[in-house]
Amino acid sequence: MSMDPCPEVRRPDGTLRAFVEARQLVPATILPLLERAEALAAGAEPKGVPPASAATLLFQQPSTRTFLSFAHAAGALGYHVADLRDMSTTSFEKGESQEDGWRTIAELSELIILRQPSHDALLDLVRSTSKLARPPIVVNAGSGPLEHPTQSLIDVATLHRRKMLDPSKGPRHMVFVGDLQRSRTVNSLLDILLGWSHITFTFVPVAGLGPSECRLDALRAMGCTFEVCADLDDALTKADGVYLQRLQDEYGGGDACRHEAALDALRLTPERMDRLPEHAVVMHPLPRRKEIDPATDQDPRAGWWETVHHGRFVRTALLESLQPARSS
Ligand code: ASP
Ligand code: CP
Repeated sequence: MSMDPCPEVRRPDGTLRAFVEARQLVPATILPLLERAEALAAGAEPKGVPPASAATLLFQQPSTRTFLSFAHAAGALGYHVADLRDMSTTSFEKGESQEDGWRTIAELSELIILRQPSHDALLDLVRSTSKLARPPIVVNAGSGPLEHPTQSLIDVATLHRRKMLDPSKGPRHMVFVGDLQRSRTVNSLLDILLGWSHITFTFVPVAGLGPSECRLDALRAMGCTFEVCADLDDALTKADGVYLQRLQDEYGGGDACRHEAALDALRLTPERMDRLPEHAVVMHPLPRRKEIDPATDQDPRAGWWETVHHGRFVRTALLESLQPARSS
């Protein structure tokens, strides 16, 4: 069952207006999006938005691929795209409150794509904009350490393409490695994978950065099978999918040098890649530091560049499904 974080994510007619958390999507809503993304990648014509629809990308945290793929996706649908990334060029610099600045963007846009550090502030935006005469579509492009739901959607697209999501093929095993505590991509991907009960999990965390108790409770509540272990080499031999990511050290907490050394010991080298079954897929949301040796990029099990490439079409399919409400 899908779970909305607040009623304001939907329009009065029940259609989705704001995609802010991974748990809003379930297999029944995800799979048609992924099929549509495949069609778009094969050259299908995107379903355009009404003329003069405006999209604003407000990115208050750094980004390369999410920003670009959303800018291209919105452009492909016919949105006029503008962005605010360097806050020193905005009127925030003149003392404008976040509330007023965001309200201004909402007044000027049919679609807002937002990356910033506070998930609560994002939910406030969704609630407050629902009262406007023309509530804009809101898409979360990363909200602090908690959520990055469209990254999960593009990760799931790679898992689907690599035949990991078909329960009729038998159980599948995912191994998550590294900073499992502060990673929004891990949080959102775990939430979304709860919809596929044939997937089991092994967590190989950097010491002190294991999955939070509340996340483990959520897995228990859904009856998911999981284990936490320290032996990456052993875990790899049984993996159908592996998910790595960099230390999320911008959020602080713990000893960064010790964490860096611990993550170095978990680096995916060509030798480690050879431990994986041939059908396995390895994913990383990128950017990477030292978690993956670039010498493995050509290995057929490497999925990270495929995710970047195909992610643009998945995001186009998502935006297409969130068309602006027609004005009455
Ligand atoms: N790009 C992803 C994010 O914004 C992962 C990362 O930065 O490590 O969450
Ligand atoms: N995966 C991801 O979100 O990359 P960026 O931070 O570069 O957008």
